Amino acid sequence: MTMTFNPSRMVHDLARHSRRPTTRPGPQVISLAVGDPDFPTPEHISQALTDALAAGATHYAPQQGDPELRAALADQVSDTSGRRYEPAQVLVTHGSTAALASTILATVDPGQRVILPEPTYSLYSDLVWMAGGEVDFVRHLDDLHLDLDAIARAAPGARMVVVCNPCNPTGAVYTEDELEDLAEIAEEHDLLVIVDEAYDHLVFDGVPFVSALEIEALAGRLVYVQTFSKTHAMCGWRIGYLAAGPEVVQAASRVHQTFNGPVNSAVQRAALVALVEPGDWPDRMRREYQARRDIVARMVASAPGVELEEPQGTFYAFLRYEADIPAAEVRRQALERGVAVRAGSEFGPGGEGFVRVSFSTSRELLVEGMERLVGLLGEDA
Ligand SMILES: Cc1ncc(COP(=O)(O)O)c(C=O)c1O
Repeated sequence: MTMTFNPSRMVHDLARHSRRPTTRPGPQVISLAVGDPDFPTPEHISQALTDALAAGATHYAPQQGDPELRAALADQVSDTSGRRYEPAQVLVTHGSTAALASTILATVDPGQRVILPEPTYSLYSDLVWMAGGEVDFVRHLDDLHLDLDAIARAAPGARMVVVCNPCNPTGAVYTEDELEDLAEIAEEHDLLVIVDEAYDHLVFDGVPFVSALEIEALAGRLVYVQTFSKTHAMCGWRIGYLAAGPEVVQAASRVHQTFNGPVNSAVQRAALVALVEPGDWPDRMRREYQARRDIVARMVASAPGVELEEPQGTFYAFLRYEADIPAAEVRRQALERGVAVRAGSEFGPGGEGFVRVSFSTSRELLVEGMERLVGLLGEDA
């Protein structure tokens, strides 16, 4: 007899709410959809992995992370913040995905409300739903920066706010003043504040980047989330971390231990090398992304029916189009023309009328893909 299988209610709920794609575009299309650098991981990091395996890093690592890596991360976070973070305040995670998941599952109870300034990275809302929490989307201002008045209105009774800076998908880099104002609201309403700075090394034109770690007023309530994926082109390695107050780290660690167990030992040894010997790769990659950002901006400027608030960071351009069709439909039509993009509505209701283009692909493919996309958007305008 065949079994009748019914997934859990959580899976049903997630499927009902989630706008995240469950498949990746196939090789027959030009993908301007994914958030994975097209650069290979720098060779000295890959070599460090081979060396670590040869040296016997084939056993379970400590649950909270490799002690040397945690010490180095704690030092780096202390340097940025100007306050001492102890290694016990760092949790090494299975990508920053697991840092976000562990924190949200460790801190949000069913029914609790989480403020998501949006459009924003679509994983956050899925995790809140998974925890049984309520998502409170607060739309960005027209310039794609934080609407602090609206956040202040949403704050009473909320549990936390999750901010992506630089912002995937918009490319906005929040100013020090914005972060200070956010800290004030969080203080007044006793909110936890997760700040995900996955793209902190991908900021263009000399725009100053201020880490949430530098905002003294956030100190007691900040969960700082970071990853090796983007800065070091290590998406497939699956390693990230969080730094926070000891109680939050302990709670998140308990979830991470239960869900993931310790992160791959040899990968942690290689991540230590990435951290202490970054070389000039992060800078070289940033320069290339900036050149590609300029290509996208130029192509949009001369195209009818589409406009762009130029991204100050990340490797995404969030294109606003004039045509009166849902973003999910634009995505579908673009796919028919052989170019994969992401619907702006994936990133929150404020993303309707936008598509997200990723420029983590070669210039040649980027130009070809953009030609197909702006052709489509111009036609429907
Ligand atoms: C803003 C942001 N945070 C976190 C992640 C997850 O990265 P990872 O799990 O590879 O560290 C991504 C990936 O695209 C991202 O864009």
